[in-house]
Amino acid sequence: MGWRSSPHPNPESLATRHLSADIPEDVAYAGEILKSGGLVAMPTETVYGLAARALDPAAVGAIYAAKGRPSDNPLIVHIADLWELGSLCASIPDAAVLLAAHFWPGPLTLVMPRRREVPDVVTAGLPTVAVRMPVTAAARALIKIAGPLAAPSANRAGAPSPTTAGHVRADLGGRIDAILDGGPCVVGVESTVLDLSGAQPCLLRPGGLARERLEALIGPVGTDPAVEGAATGQPPRAPGMKYRHYAPKAPLFLLQGPAAAAAAYVRARAKPGAAVLCFDGEQALFAGCYCVSYGREGDPASLSRNLYAALRQLDRDDVSEIYARYPAYTGGLYEAVRNRLGKAAES
Ligand code: TXA
Ligand code: MG
Repeated sequence: MGWRSSPHPNPESLATRHLSADIPEDVAYAGEILKSGGLVAMPTETVYGLAARALDPAAVGAIYAAKGRPSDNPLIVHIADLWELGSLCASIPDAAVLLAAHFWPGPLTLVMPRRREVPDVVTAGLPTVAVRMPVTAAARALIKIAGPLAAPSANRAGAPSPTTAGHVRADLGGRIDAILDGGPCVVGVESTVLDLSGAQPCLLRPGGLARERLEALIGPVGTDPAVEGAATGQPPRAPGMKYRHYAPKAPLFLLQGPAAAAAAYVRARAKPGAAVLCFDGEQALFAGCYCVSYGREGDPASLSRNLYAALRQLDRDDVSEIYARYPAYTGGLYEAVRNRLGKAAES
């Protein structure tokens, strides 16, 4: 293929190639870049991931540098076949076998005891490794070419996760070797992270697979207090949950309660240049204020799919503050949407 690994001497100096997930030669080329130790942003059903070969510590180290990610925040390893679990995990709990059979490929990450062969830079030194099997054909093809791939969301640390190739380029253009464009992500929020390494399964991050679907299969699932933002004095078990995440540049305030009351609140409080992140059909209520809708309140899949793109649009428009309509419903995908809005509102 003639592609040589770049040593990443100077972040921002790379010509980031645009490749198409629909063109087999482009996918093969992206696979060669990964095999040579490079970085490729790849489409998954949840969000775009910034991939490197998981068993190559130098390549994985370059992910942290490109993202500006703190080194104590471990990465998810992506696989394409169940047998690959054996090379990553020291033991595979029965619940993992059951969950994988039902929900993989899909937006579910399982945390399990790691094997020593998994580099410390992937797990941030933890005794566990997080693994998932993505849905998109492009991601699976890359894994088949280059082996298991470590991939965090392909944004600069702290920014909302990218759900289009354009979002990735805005954050990481010039810092990574290539972006494999597979169009907009279908789910739009990150995977659900479930820890199976302890006595009881524990939800570390709500995401694209609803908790109820896990519980229907394996029984009650605990919740790490960090998910609700409770201050316990203990660090969250998913280190990533402690960082200000999913956050636009402008301060974000949650608007709870009925739409009319929310509109009155915004009229009384909003500064010049403020914007409303609203539900479909609410623009008239917030007349006079710049509104961006992120979907129907009754359709949580539309909210999760559009949330990050809407936050990024408000960033591009340089709004002074964001008033975000917070869905009144709970359960299902609402849990992830409410969690990400809550995190975006933390300062
Ligand atoms: O949908 C997704 O999960 C996307 C796509 C690209 O697969 N990836 C993603 O990765 O969201 P990232 O790095 O942005 O989030 C991974 C989360 C972080 O909160 C991290 O702390 C946690 O998973 N995590 C990773 N390994 C862990 C481990 N061994 N124990 C506990 N938490 C872990
Ligand atoms: Mg992330």
